[in-house]
Amino acid sequence: MLVTAKPLGPKNPWLAYAALYRDPLGYLIRAARKHGDVVHLKIGRKSDFLLNHPDLVRAALLDHENLRRCVNRPLRWLFGTGLLTCRSERHKQQRALLQPMFSRERIVSLGDVMVAQTMRWANRWRDGATVDMAEEMMELAMSITAKALFNVDLSCKSAELRNTLATLLQATRFKNLIVTSKQFEKLSLPFHRRFARAAEKLDSEICAMIAERKKGACDDPDLLSTMLRLRRQSRIGLTDQQIRDQILTFFTVGHETTATGMMWTWYLLSENREVAKRLYSEVDHVLGDRLPSGRDCDRLRYTRMVFAESMRLYPPIWMMTRRAVRDMKINGLVIRNGSYVHLSPFVMHRDPRYFPDPERFDPDRWTPEAAATRPKFSYFPFGGGPLQCIGEGFAWTQAILVISTLARGWQMRVVPGHRIELDPHITLRSRYGMPMILERRK
Ligand code: HEM
Repeated sequence: MLVTAKPLGPKNPWLAYAALYRDPLGYLIRAARKHGDVVHLKIGRKSDFLLNHPDLVRAALLDHENLRRCVNRPLRWLFGTGLLTCRSERHKQQRALLQPMFSRERIVSLGDVMVAQTMRWANRWRDGATVDMAEEMMELAMSITAKALFNVDLSCKSAELRNTLATLLQATRFKNLIVTSKQFEKLSLPFHRRFARAAEKLDSEICAMIAERKKGACDDPDLLSTMLRLRRQSRIGLTDQQIRDQILTFFTVGHETTATGMMWTWYLLSENREVAKRLYSEVDHVLGDRLPSGRDCDRLRYTRMVFAESMRLYPPIWMMTRRAVRDMKINGLVIRNGSYVHLSPFVMHRDPRYFPDPERFDPDRWTPEAAATRPKFSYFPFGGGPLQCIGEGFAWTQAILVISTLARGWQMRVVPGHRIELDPHITLRSRYGMPMILERRK
């Protein structure tokens, strides 16, 4: 797709920014419908582009030379030189170092840990009880990530750590980004002090984890031991600070995203009983009386389609932003140095050109035949190109195994009358949580 005409945008950009601040998701959808494949917002020399065509998204995601990933200040501060926040050569080096940890065989082999953690979790559930599925999925995903990636058991600390992380992630909420900007940071408001205290607490937990592991032989196959072993064996390894940054990155990004995706899946299954029936029937048919393992993921096809469709409607990462580091063009569209380029899976996944009747939850959109009719970057929950999510395989495996393990024994219903409203944090959350009533199936 070639764009040559001057891109259109709202007449009054100040009003547009105000509307974006009030209701980012609603505004983005409306702007895309009104202005088309490229929405251009310009105030003075500052330009923002929202790209809404798969070809443009593809071109932007693949161009790591001219477009750099923008991560908001609180996250940069938190993750330091971790994979999500480091740049250029260092990113290339660290990605190459860490990639082997996410090979298909390794992820399949982690399946048993994922299922065991899920069973431990579900053993605490009681028939007829009401739980907040947003919290449940966060804490479960946190304990799976800690055990599978770092071989650390966090089950007894997960609620406390979750609270600490919740304080930190408050700062990344779209509406709080002004308070965390450079100008406001100097004021040292209570908000900033809470953030600093929580960061210190998390830091000390992680440093204790590294110190503990350094005492041992470091020959476990998990990510932490591998990073420490690489350091012992070679000069290209990571320093303590870099290991801390990677752990915090993987730990936070790894659980928050998958947990959000799973929470929305339970919500959608509760609202679409026919789809839920098909999912239970697949789980019963494929697994019978046994627990799933990593090798079952390929056979749990409908479960995979349900999770794919759930990430279409509620992509955990709802927006990715890049900044142009020199004047450049994307398919003919002129982007000046310093401009911001935004790509929103939330907007693209609701585009009726690729997903007719976009609000309808329909996992059959993900049969191989149906998926093959759509352009690749009409769906990009994991991004693409050199910065594509390194944990994608881990996330699919975890989601399919958690959903199928829980669906073996339980069905969940959203508490009647509960208000559902989207809350765009770093991930796409539910503003009032997700209280659900548990019903035992077998
Ligand atoms: C459903 C779950 C997940 C979703 C939707 C998701 C989504 C994404 C997206 C969209 C990006 C690219 C952001 C950009 O281009 O600016 C990304 C990057 C990343 N993700 Fe995920 N993610 C998920 C799960 C995970 C898991 C389980 C892990 C770790 C085990 C993980 C670790 C990372 C890391 C480290 C990066 C940065 C990669 C790099 O720059 O090389 N993610 N993720």
